[in-house]
Amino acid sequence: MKNQKTISGFSKLNKRGKIKWLVENFFKDPENVMRELSSYWLKNEEQQRVLDGFSENTVSNFPMPFSIAPNFVINDKTYCIPMVIEESSVVAAASSAAKFWMTRGGFKATVIDIQKIGQYHFNFSGQKDRLQYVLDEYKTYFLKKLKPYTESMQKRGGGIIEMSLRDFPEEPGYFQIQMTFDTCDSMGANFINTILEEFAVLFEAKVNAEYSGLYDISTVMCILSNYTPDCLVEASVSCNVADLGPIPGGIKPEEFAEKFAQAIRIAEIDPYRATTHNKGIFNGIDSVVIATGNDFRAIEAGGHTYAARNGSYSSLSHCELLDDQFKFYIRVPLALGTVGGLTKLHPVAKRSLEMLGNPNAKELMKIIASVGLAQNFAAVKSLVTTGIQKGHMKMHLSNVLNQLKATENEFKLAVEHFSNKIISHRSVQEFLESIRSSN
Ligand code: MEV
Repeated sequence: MKNQKTISGFSKLNKRGKIKWLVENFFKDPENVMRELSSYWLKNEEQQRVLDGFSENTVSNFPMPFSIAPNFVINDKTYCIPMVIEESSVVAAASSAAKFWMTRGGFKATVIDIQKIGQYHFNFSGQKDRLQYVLDEYKTYFLKKLKPYTESMQKRGGGIIEMSLRDFPEEPGYFQIQMTFDTCDSMGANFINTILEEFAVLFEAKVNAEYSGLYDISTVMCILSNYTPDCLVEASVSCNVADLGPIPGGIKPEEFAEKFAQAIRIAEIDPYRATTHNKGIFNGIDSVVIATGNDFRAIEAGGHTYAARNGSYSSLSHCELLDDQFKFYIRVPLALGTVGGLTKLHPVAKRSLEMLGNPNAKELMKIIASVGLAQNFAAVKSLVTTGIQKGHMKMHLSNVLNQLKATENEFKLAVEHFSNKIISHRSVQEFLESIRSSN
């Protein structure tokens, strides 16, 4: 087959056909790659079909580690946390923070609110008050017409909470109806987008009928917002400063508490530090969000906007030192679901939720905020005491040794050898070569 980097009808090929085209055109050793990619297919064909259904043009699966962080005490209940993450040290750090706080009262978490937001964006050639009139006058009519779509959510205690008209001086003639929703235990994206699209049709028709076509109205788009500042959860840990010890490196608890609080203040005032600081928080949050079949891009996007809500990007976590009490807390928007989406379709996500005791969305918000806080605590604790490279390098050594197919004995010798030496891919390779050649 002649080299063909573009193709039409790729999606129509079956899976083997897709891989065949891919390997023949983009790899030097097509047969090996074909064998390798197909080796990641699930043996259970039914489960593989389910996975394939999540996306398009699927050729293989992309394995990621599925890990557990035990000993998380949150609101006096103990959880084993499922985490999907590829970065070494994250799960170890979460587990160590969980164990640390387990004996100091655990995590306390509260859901502040669970409102989600959707927006109908449109252009209108008249004044804002004309639109406001239609919205107020026909609100009951709109809600009644939307009932077929909202009824089952209403039965579960949710539905549309509010509709408000917004305009933007920067964009004359453009308006928006922003709706707030309670989507109960579902993330609610489909529910919200369906309602917005139906509402747009109803609203446009009413505006045209009310003003006999005097004004032009046209829809720009209807879509939920991933910024959910009112779908907010707070998690905290606190203890007496003296109880923070023992601290690695023999630092006194008082000194540790001061250094820790200063590190948090730095993340509050400097966006460069805040970005890395919050990245550490999302190491924990994202890995549980992925493990439970939720949308980590939505969570990240909303979290970062929230971190910049006061005009400058800042820390999501805060620390207070008052009367010998250490308090560390996070407030973060988390629009999560425990029903719908992948939550029950993905076989492992389903097990993750089961492991957590099949929480509702509010409980999952509390769990995930606590994991984010734990992750942040562990990272900042390392940074202001031992530094993070020590732990990272231990994991790095083990990854390099695995990559170089080290035996159990070689592992042991390498760990000993590198306990006080600089670890790099080359230094590990040279070490292995030296012990292999001397045998
Ligand atoms: C690394 O993935 C995360 C950290 O950089 C977070 C932080 O600096 O706070 C360790």
